[in-house]
Amino acid sequence: MKKNSVYIETYGCQMNVADSEIVMGILGNNGYELTQQIKKADVILLNTCSIRDNAEQRIYGRLGNLKKLKSSRPDMLIGILGCMAERLRKDLIEDKKIVDIVVGPDEYRRLPEFIDSAFNGEKGIGVKLSRTETYDDIIPYREDGLQAWISVMRGCDKFCTFCVVPFTRGRERSRELKSIIEEINLLSSRGFKEVTLLGQNVNSYSDAENDFADLLAACAEVDRNLRIRFTTSHPQDLSEKLLQTIAEHPNICKYIHLPVQSGSNRILEAMNRTYTVEHYLTIIDKARELMPNVSFSTDIISGFPSETYEDHLATLDIMQKVRYDGAYMFKYSPREGTKAYKMEDDVSEDVKAKRLQEIITLQQQISYEINQSLIGKEEIILVEGNSKKSDLFLSGRTDSNKIVVFPKSENISEGDYVKVKINRATSATLFGDLVESLYSLDDSPSSIAV
Ligand code: SAH
Ligand code: SF4
Ligand code: F3S
Repeated sequence: MKKNSVYIETYGCQMNVADSEIVMGILGNNGYELTQQIKKADVILLNTCSIRDNAEQRIYGRLGNLKKLKSSRPDMLIGILGCMAERLRKDLIEDKKIVDIVVGPDEYRRLPEFIDSAFNGEKGIGVKLSRTETYDDIIPYREDGLQAWISVMRGCDKFCTFCVVPFTRGRERSRELKSIIEEINLLSSRGFKEVTLLGQNVNSYSDAENDFADLLAACAEVDRNLRIRFTTSHPQDLSEKLLQTIAEHPNICKYIHLPVQSGSNRILEAMNRTYTVEHYLTIIDKARELMPNVSFSTDIISGFPSETYEDHLATLDIMQKVRYDGAYMFKYSPREGTKAYKMEDDVSEDVKAKRLQEIITLQQQISYEINQSLIGKEEIILVEGNSKKSDLFLSGRTDSNKIVVFPKSENISEGDYVKVKINRATSATLFGDLVESLYSLDDSPSSIAV
C-alpha cells in the first residue's frame, strides 16, 4: 500500500496558511490524502516561520516532541517547509537528524518528488527561490467555509533592515489578475462570504496591466455579497486611487492594516521603511477624509538598535495620533543575514520588554475606548457561527474585523449578514442586539461603515 497520508502543521503568517493549502492542493493531485491525526500520518510537514527567534525556537521545540513519535515509527517522514527551510537549509537536516525533507516556499511543486526520494532513503532538499513562481494554476485545497485566504503576490523587495522575508521568500512577483478572479468565482460558488487578498506588500501588486486598486475593484465585482479584505499594506505605496477604490465598493472592508513599526523618523530611516511619520499621517488623514469610518491596525517593533527613550515616546505618540483599532506588537529580534544584524543590538532585553509593555497597555486602552464609542451604534456583521462561550449566542465580524456577540435568533444562520446594535464592549469584543437581517451588502451601503 502506498504511504500517502499527510499531516500538516502551519506556523507564522497567513501567507503560510495559504501556502499550506497550495501544498495540499499539489499533494492531492499526486495521490496524497490529508489526515488530521498526526499518529496515523506517513508524512508530517511543519510549515515554518523565521520572522523572530521565538518563532524558530517553537519549531525546534516541536521537533523535539516529534522525536519520540519518529522513534516509534522510523518509516514515517518529517519535513520542514516554509521560511525556516529557506533560511537554515542543510543545517536542519545535518543538525536535526529526524528531518527528512526541507523544502522552501518556491519549490512546493517538487514536494511529491522529494517525498518519494525521502521514502527511498535519500534526504529531499529543495530550497531554490524563483523570480516567477506564483502557483497560479494550482487550486488550493480548502475545506468548505465562509472565509478564504488568497495569495495575490509572493516575496518582497522592500528590504526593511530588520526583516528576513526578502531572504526567505525571495523577490516580489504578482499573480495574474485573471487567475485570482477565477479563484474568487470558485469560492463564491462554493458559498464563501469573505476573501482576504494576501501579500507582504499588496499595494505594489502589478500584473503588467493592473495595479492593486484595479485588482481590488475586479475582486469586489465578482460577487457583491462577498467581502474583500487585504493585507499587508506598505505605507510607501498606498495611493489615493487605492483609497478611492476602497471607498467606492461597499463590499471592500474599510479596514487597513498599515504597519508603522516606529514613530521616530530616525528609527524609520534606520529600518529602511522609506516613509516619514509625517507622510504616514498624511495617508491616515486622506483615508479618513474619504472614509470617515475607516479603521486601521498596525505592527510595532520595540527596541530596534539605537532606539532611545525619546524614540519610544514618539512611537507612543503616533499611536495616540492614529488611534489604531488593533496592533501586533513585538520586541526587536536580530536576524542573521539582515542589515540590522550588523547594528549593535544595544537596547537591553529588560528595556525592550518594558517599552513593549507600555505599548501594549496603551493599545489596550485605545482599543477599549474605540469599542466603548461604538455603544449605541449599528454594525453590519457577517455571522460566523455560535459564540465561543455559549450556544445561546451567535458571533460574527464587523467590516473592521471586530468580533460581535449577540443572542441567537431563529432565522439567522452562518453566512448571513445582519445588522446589530452594540450595547456593551470590552477591549476585545462587542456585544449587541439584532436589529435586522440583511440579505445583501449592496442594500445598505450607508450602514456598512456605521
Ligand atoms: N510585510 C509586512 C510585515 C511582515 S512581518 C509589512 O511590511 O508590514 C510582520 C511583522 O513582524 C512586521 O511588520 C514587523 O513588525 C515584525 N517583524 C519583522 N521582523 C522582525 C524582527 N526582526 N524583530 C521583531 N519584529 C519583526
Ligand atoms: Fe519585511 Fe519590510 Fe518586506 Fe514587510 S515590507 S516583508 S517588513 S522587508
Ligand atoms: Fe514568518 Fe515567513 Fe510569514 S518568516 S511571518 S512565515 S513570510
